Formats: sequence, structure tokens, C-alpha cells
Amino acid sequence: MGHVMIGVAASTLNCLPEYYVDLSDQQLDEHIRQAKAALGSRVVILGHHYQRDEVVKFADFRGDSLKLSRLAANRKEADFIVFCGVHFMAESADILRDEHQVVVLPDLSAGCSMADMADRDQVEVCWEEVCRIASGGVVPVTYINSTAAIKAFVGRNSGAVCTSSNAGKVMAWALAHGEKGLFIPDEHLGRNTAYRMGIPLDAMAVWDPRQEMGGLSEEEVRRARVILWKGHCSVHQRFLPEHIEKARKNYPGIRVIAHPECRWDVCQMADDVGSTELIITQVNEGGPGSQWAIGTEIHLVKRLAQENPDRTVISLDDCGCLCSTMYRISPQHLCWTLESLVEGQVVNRVQVDDETRRWARVALDRMLQIV
Ligand code: 13P
Ligand code: SF4
Repeated sequence: MGHVMIGVAASTLNCLPEYYVDLSDQQLDEHIRQAKAALGSRVVILGHHYQRDEVVKFADFRGDSLKLSRLAANRKEADFIVFCGVHFMAESADILRDEHQVVVLPDLSAGCSMADMADRDQVEVCWEEVCRIASGGVVPVTYINSTAAIKAFVGRNSGAVCTSSNAGKVMAWALAHGEKGLFIPDEHLGRNTAYRMGIPLDAMAVWDPRQEMGGLSEEEVRRARVILWKGHCSVHQRFLPEHIEKARKNYPGIRVIAHPECRWDVCQMADDVGSTELIITQVNEGGPGSQWAIGTEIHLVKRLAQENPDRTVISLDDCGCLCSTMYRISPQHLCWTLESLVEGQVVNRVQVDDETRRWARVALDRMLQIV
């Protein structure tokens, strides 16, 4: 059928049919395999590293946010991009897709609590105030973990998107183009990145959208080189310095890697800080006998431990930090969305409106040009 979408009916249904709940694990695997085979090169399945094993094993490509957005921008031959990740990732794929392509998120309720912490109206208020006070220009940077509306806001205001693996380069670009950077919505990634670039903590200010004037005085805004939005990831914020102390006590010589969404004090104590892709590379290159304590989502940590039985790989927090929204993408949902595509029905499509898409694309393209 090539790239022609004729005969494919779109639907916004998000209610898993009973039928899929009753299938056994083996039946689900078989159905998914058959649906994938029937769709052939018309479908590409992208899977984030935090996805469960029983889902990610069907991904044509796995990656961190940067790798997956590059793939979404480059897989023009597929009519359908099925994104096993969370809503902002599927939105980014929809922003970068070609006209003929359709992006599907197997469960539309797979959101990201951090992305929800920056609301467009609140960001507009912050922007007006900070621009009124700053004389030399403010450049907004949004982490890819944000809604399409925030990305569009940033695109319209001459800013760029960043991911956890290119935040340093994008922030350097922003600060070369203005007196201040406004970093949305992850306070921790913003602080960790700016600090690594040599910006001292007292040259950063946190804008709390729940408070009048962000809880800051005009003088505090004027003094700040980087304004950090008060948002966080509830999964990564759970890792604490005492977890690192305990891991080092129990496993002398262990190397600690933290995702940059972890708190500043945790990242300061860690041996290395980086995106999910960097974490995987480090463990793979570590060699037999190496020991790793990792501060990121538990599915990735467990997979690294299973795939590397000749090295010690543990989660920094014994309780294991799980991203409950990533977990919503189940084999049942994947099976349902794929079989619907085979039948010519699109369920759980993620579609950003044209105007938002246009400006969000500007911000994403800027990122892809910077890195
Ligand atoms: P990565 O881009 O490092 O994969 O991070 C995505 C994410 O949501 C981390 O919480
Ligand atoms: Fe969002 Fe945190 Fe889950 Fe990443 S781990 S998708 S930032 S809630």
C-alpha cells in the first residue's frame, strides 16, 4: 500500500477490548508477531529503555529520548510509528513525522508526571516577568519531557528542546544567545547541567509556578544566569546520597552512575552522570567483574543485570524506582493497536494540532541542528 493512507479509519478509542485481557502470554506473543509480520515495513516499533521486557522485545529500535526522536525523524518509509514509551515521546514523533505517517501510543494514559508540571499559561506568566526584568535577552530551553504546547512556546520564542544526552550543548547554545537561560520543566537536569558548565549554584534561581512571581524577588531574577522551573521526576528524585553511601559500603569499588534527573547532591557524589544510553554503554564497556550501582528506572537496571551476568549491576535504591506510566504500555495494548492497524483501524493515535506542531518542530529542529 506504500504511503497511501486510504481506507485507514482513525479512532481515539482508548479502551482495551476484553478479548486481549483473556489471551495467555504465549498467545499475545504469537498475535503480536503475526500482526508485525502482516504490517511488514509499514510499521516501525520504537521502544524506550524503561519499557518492560515483554514489550521492548518487539521494538525494532530501542533508545533514549534523543536516539528515538532521531529515528522518528528518519523512518520515512513506515506508515505507522508505534511508540512504546510515554505521551511526550509519541508527541515528539508526531511533530517530526512526515505527512503520510501516523503515530500510535499503545495506551494513551501513559503520560509523564514531570511533563505535566509545566503548564502553558504558567510558563507564559514566568516568561513575561523574566523578560521584563532581564535586559539582555532570555533564551528558553525545554527538556524533551514536556508537552507539545511547551515545545511550541519555546520554538516561538527562539529557544530549543534538549534531551538528557545533549542538555549541556543546548544550554551552552542558549547562553551564547542571551543573557539568561530559562530551563523548563526539570529543576534537577537544569541545575546539574548548568553546574557542570561552571555556573555556580548562586547564579541559578528556581521559579515556583505555584507562588506569586515564582517566589523570587526582582533582584534574584536579575542576578540569576539560569532560571530553573520547579519540576521534577518523582522516580529519579527518590535516589538519595545515603543510597550511594550504602552501595559503596556494601560493594567496595562499585561505580555509581546517576541519571541527570537525580538530585544535584546525588549527581555530585556519583562517578558518572548520563542518559539511559550512556548508562548502557558504560556497563557494557565495564568488562567482566565490574560493579555498578545505577540511579535510574528499575526495568533498565534489571535488564542490564540480566544481560551482564558476569558483572554486578544493582539499583541504587533497594525499593527499585518504577515509572508507573511507562509500565502502562502492556503487551495487551501493543497487540490491540497492531491488530487494529492490520484491520485498517488506527486506535490510540497521538496527533498534535498543526499550529502547535509547526512551532514545536522549530524547537526540535534547532536541537537536532545543535547536536
Ligand atoms: P533518556 O532520554 O535518558 O532515556 O530519559 C528519558 C526519561 O524519561 C528519563 O526519565
Ligand atoms: Fe517522566 Fe520520570 Fe517516567 Fe521519565 S521516569 S517518563 S521523567 S515520570
